[in-house]
Amino acid sequence: MATSHVSETDRLLSEVLEKASIKNVLDLGAGDGRYSVCCADLGAKVDAVDLNPFPEDIIDHLNIRTIMADLNKFRLPARLYNLVIMRSILHYLKPKEAESLLRRVRRHVAPGGFIYIFTTTPAGSNRYAYTPEIITKMLKPLILCRQEETSRADRTKPDGLFHSWSLLYQNVRSGSACTV
Ligand SMILES: C[S@@+](CC[C@H](N)C(=O)[O-])C[C@H]1O[C@@H](n2cnc3c(N)ncnc32)[C@H](O)[C@@H]1O
Repeated sequence: MATSHVSETDRLLSEVLEKASIKNVLDLGAGDGRYSVCCADLGAKVDAVDLNPFPEDIIDHLNIRTIMADLNKFRLPARLYNLVIMRSILHYLKPKEAESLLRRVRRHVAPGGFIYIFTTTPAGSNRYAYTPEIITKMLKPLILCRQEETSRADRTKPDGLFHSWSLLYQNVRSGSACTV
């Protein structure tokens, strides 16, 4: 299965890719591009954005357009996407940067389209924690249609727990129309 190298924590993303018709994808903070490749190998056209250079095989992939840019300054392409992936990127952005990016991104989600977010309560002074409540406020009027949380013990955290969230938002006019 083309989605087999998506991490186990990304079950919601796998489900979207398997069940929804995804033609255009925006992968923000794409890293080594593994999630872009998942989508591209399924036939989607992918815009992959990252601050750092991409590996050659990602640059050469016919279905992937690589864009080296800082998300805090990046002007989003004038198009709508069926799926925006923001995996392990939000917690690198300061609150004002995260809010600005989410408010820009939500306008680029096609009707019925999705934003997939994976974020954690990471360690380190240059990392920021975003709970589903905070993200949902920033992405309004998109609705949070699926949410999965994993927690494990971490004595360095104020509540003694390390949290990770997989969140699936959808652009719907009314109700909670999530078909995945
Ligand atoms: C932990 S990696 C996640 C990569 C990929 N999304 C994944 O889940 O495998 C975080 C990525 O965000 C990128 N990044 C961090 N801050 C960024 C910024 N301001 N603009 C663009 N990319 C950024 C880093 O270069 C890195 O590739």
